[in-house]
Amino acid sequence: MHDQLEFDVLIIGSGAAGLSLALKLADQSNVAVLSKNALVEGATFYAQGGVSAALDKHDSVESHVEDTIATGAGLCNPEIVRFVVERAQESVDWLVNIGVDFTRLNNSSNTELDFHLHKEGGHSHRRVIHAADATGKAIETTLESRVRQHKNIELYENHVAVDLITINKLLKNKTRCIGAYVLDNESKNVKVFRARNVVLATGGAGKVYLYTSNPDSCTGDGIAMASRIGCRIVNMEFIQFHRTCLYHPMAKSFLISEALRGEGAKLILKDGSNFMERYDKRQELAPRDIVARAIDYEMKRLGHDCVYLDISHKSKQFIKQHFPNIFKRCLDLGIDISAEPIPVVPAAHYTCGGVIINENGQTDIPGLYAIGEVSYSGLHGANRMASNSLLECFVFAHSTFKHIKETSTKVNMPKKISEWDESRVTNSDEEVVVSHNWDEIRRFMWDYVGIVRTTKRLHRAHHRIKLLQSEITEYYSNFRVTKDLIELRNLAKVAELIIESALRRKESRGLHYMTDFPVTDDTDTPKNTIIKTKNSTEDNAVA
Ligand code: FAD
Ligand code: SIN
Repeated sequence: MHDQLEFDVLIIGSGAAGLSLALKLADQSNVAVLSKNALVEGATFYAQGGVSAALDKHDSVESHVEDTIATGAGLCNPEIVRFVVERAQESVDWLVNIGVDFTRLNNSSNTELDFHLHKEGGHSHRRVIHAADATGKAIETTLESRVRQHKNIELYENHVAVDLITINKLLKNKTRCIGAYVLDNESKNVKVFRARNVVLATGGAGKVYLYTSNPDSCTGDGIAMASRIGCRIVNMEFIQFHRTCLYHPMAKSFLISEALRGEGAKLILKDGSNFMERYDKRQELAPRDIVARAIDYEMKRLGHDCVYLDISHKSKQFIKQHFPNIFKRCLDLGIDISAEPIPVVPAAHYTCGGVIINENGQTDIPGLYAIGEVSYSGLHGANRMASNSLLECFVFAHSTFKHIKETSTKVNMPKKISEWDESRVTNSDEEVVVSHNWDEIRRFMWDYVGIVRTTKRLHRAHHRIKLLQSEITEYYSNFRVTKDLIELRNLAKVAELIIESALRRKESRGLHYMTDFPVTDDTDTPKNTIIKTKNSTEDNAVA
């Protein structure tokens, strides 16, 4: 029997979305933040390019809205796009205010008009504010230092949310989320965290693919947990593949930022020839889906393991000043990017779909919010424009903060919530099953549900995931939970959602490309793919 911890707000996730919200809420609420690993470990820390905002005097909100909608291939929600883009300037002001040190022109420190802006794919202007080529690190460490100082924020590192807790009996059969079961990865106990409001800020699911730019934490836990309690999950077929991850046996998940292409870097083949001109007149700066498919096609056509990105036309001084992190990492691996092309491959990068939310961050279940990459707000549609995702984290952290502040009335919490039941499980003596199934899912997702898809391959993947899921469910019912097992169960759920969404979309659109349905269906209004797991709620309250 363990103590049940109680907070006003429980935030699951400590990236840009979770920590921004915690900081905003903490003056009025007591807040718990969970992090699976160390606090800063998550996609945010590794973001390179930056945050998009129309700050240049030749740029406008209108143009940012238009570019976002054009990239989203018919599925963006125009009202949400405007809602987010109009709040970009205030998000940047807030970040500058809390101390994020963005790169300025000529080392000036006067006003925000002096910020250096990068240009990335899909943007018609220089629009990406950044901290050299390590923007995420600058943001995450600034947020970290702020939240660590706040007395109303309790940080639980190495704590893994297993499942969300709901009640309905006390609320006239209206389900409400009131907490989560959480594995303390040090003590190995599963604790009950109770809260009037719970926020999923768990990030994306890139680890469902063999090759990914994402860190290990991105296993789609929030999407899987929300789906299990009956939230609608939307547009999971739209997985964005970044075109340029470093191809090197010693470089796990290292991104070569799109901002290099904004500075004129060229994609070339082994023989030095350009190929993007054959695919799109915007060449290297075409939206990600087009460039990723072109690279995939060329690699398969020629049987090559990678293509190359060449920025060696720029001086060493320029490269070291603008891309110090990438320059150093490549040099450490023996590649001098000022003198030779960089070997690159596409890799799963961003989960465009997720838990459906409204502009206040609310999900379908009262008491449960979702913000950041775990969510589907309608901003990205069928394809995310570069550097719009960090922006989305800050805008929805703010709108969720406002909604919780304005609506947090007294919730009739149950006296007691059932403890985690371990009476029928034992310690696993077959950890190999977990690691084997992890590898199998990631490999078949890459081979069958990757950049270019066919119905036949999707069916093959569907068959595999069903078999694996029954094995994982059996394993989950018999053995004590571990972090790896929790992640495997969630990865399998997310893989299933991706495959089923992909099978339902019988057209090619945005990031979803099917060789047997190669054309976008323009005969009807484009539709979102919505999956709601039925009968998935159970009541954990003990009155
Ligand atoms: P994350 O930063 O991923 O944080 C998720 C948090 O949830 C982590 O703290 C994790 O520990 C925690 N968590 C997850 N599951 C659980 C659980 N079960 N229990 C407890 N805690 C849990 N976007 C841009 O806009 N601009 C860029 O330049 C850019 N560059 C990128 C470069 C790279 C290499 C990558 C991978 C992504 C990049 N992106 C970029 C995308 C962007 O970084 C992410 O979309 C964004 O950082 C997501 O923030 P988040 O707070 O939603 O999630
Ligand atoms: C990059 O720097 O290329 C990543 C930008 C993004 O994913 O938004």
